[in-house]
Amino acid sequence: MIKIAPSILSADFANLERDIQRVSSADYLHVDVMDGCFVPNITIGASVVQSIRRCTGMFLDVHLMIDKPVRYIETFAKAGASLLSVHLEADHPTRIAEALKVMGQCGVKKAVALRPITAASAILPYIEELDMVLVMTVEPGFGGQSFMDSQLDTIRQAREIIRKYNPACELEVDGGISPKTAPLVVEAGANVLVAGSAVYSSEDISGAIQALRDSM
Ligand code: DX5
Ligand code: ZN
Repeated sequence: MIKIAPSILSADFANLERDIQRVSSADYLHVDVMDGCFVPNITIGASVVQSIRRCTGMFLDVHLMIDKPVRYIETFAKAGASLLSVHLEADHPTRIAEALKVMGQCGVKKAVALRPITAASAILPYIEELDMVLVMTVEPGFGGQSFMDSQLDTIRQAREIIRKYNPACELEVDGGISPKTAPLVVEAGANVLVAGSAVYSSEDISGAIQALRDSM
């Protein structure tokens, strides 16, 4: 089953509760945490995730675009994240492994994320314990960028690794997803589609979520 995960990065932060209720027909709620260091943008922290948790029962898919994420796993887990994804480029492999271990101890689902520069094979050391792999289809940092076709190969390779070592693991894509690009990423093997501007720039938000589902 294909899942849609609207990204609140494109929501109106002054009306966050309203904009979260507007995407309640989706499967996951994607929350982008940026530190101004790993990426050149600053968004929200754990206290906002905590407030979001109080106003929705949705599955909170929290994408950590922060340096040395192991420092914050427990904080975001306690704030109410359902799943945390850490970037493989954000720390040394031993500290990424440590971050995943802490996620397990905190009872949140575990994911690793890949910038476009990173090869799919980088997930191999962790694959057996992951609940999800996130392949970026834009350079992380901002919403509304153009989809990178060159990432279709990485999606295919990640799907092949998942099929071989951990078929239950989900494969999420993030960046430039629209009714035009959704069929391409699904054909390449993605099953969770993040969409920020394609959902929130629409006058009819639940219609935009349905348009993504109908495009595949
Ligand atoms: C970008 C974020 C994305 C962003 C996607 O770094 O990780 O989740 O919100 O936005 P769109 O769908 O507009 O490309
Ligand atoms: Zn994201």
